[in-house]
Amino acid sequence: MNPNVRIFPDITDLTECVAQIMRESINETNRSGQYFLALAGGNTPRALYQLLAEDYADKIAWTNVHLFWGDERYVPAGDSRSNFRMVQETLLRRIRIPINQIHPMPTNYQDPNVAAHAYEVILRKYFYSTWPRFNLTILGLGSDGHTASIFPGSIRFEDKRWVVATRAPIEPRQRLTLTLPVLSNSERVFFIVTGHDKANALARTLSKGIKPQSCPAAGVYQKNASVIFWTDKDASKLLALG
Ligand code: 6PG
Repeated sequence: MNPNVRIFPDITDLTECVAQIMRESINETNRSGQYFLALAGGNTPRALYQLLAEDYADKIAWTNVHLFWGDERYVPAGDSRSNFRMVQETLLRRIRIPINQIHPMPTNYQDPNVAAHAYEVILRKYFYSTWPRFNLTILGLGSDGHTASIFPGSIRFEDKRWVVATRAPIEPRQRLTLTLPVLSNSERVFFIVTGHDKANALARTLSKGIKPQSCPAAGVYQKNASVIFWTDKDASKLLALG
């Protein structure tokens, strides 16, 4: 299967295209009028969230959307490293989405494992099958091949949990993350990957026979035929696309 890689001259054109597709997808939603969206953290998706806030606040039926997070740094919600805070500052400040449809990962438990379980309980209010199925999951890619907060060497394939606490090789180390089966079960998955420093990881993610244990992002790509990689020239420079 040829990977679905879309290459843009820069992040502006890239985010504009993604925003338009999100608009169509959310506004045409028919699943009882609810759209389940899981967001990525990190820096790369900021531009998309800002564009959605500035140009799509009135063009998207945000009242249909339930917002979840693919992962979180285990820091207070007000901390500058918090993925929730990043989304609050870039997206939530301008869109009208009912507060009870915004579902940040809890980081106020003594034990992050208890927090992970608490988030699974929240998810189970909306999803009743073996694995939850988001309409759209947005993911980033780390230069080591990690995605969400699933790092190389950290996957426990036997795990039936939807959310787990993980340790990152970089600060902040304590994390919460949706597990690989959950991310892979999404109706649609958008990886947003830009910049030179991601070229090697993107090439590895798409390489034949790569093991998810050494490159977790590949674990999502190998299991989900809807994956689209939204990239720029720098990040896609090592790809030998047909
Ligand atoms: C996080 C993310 C993580 C991120 C990658 C890429 O909490 O950091 O969810 O998976 O997507 O590390 O990060 P950048 O976009 O900052 O390069």
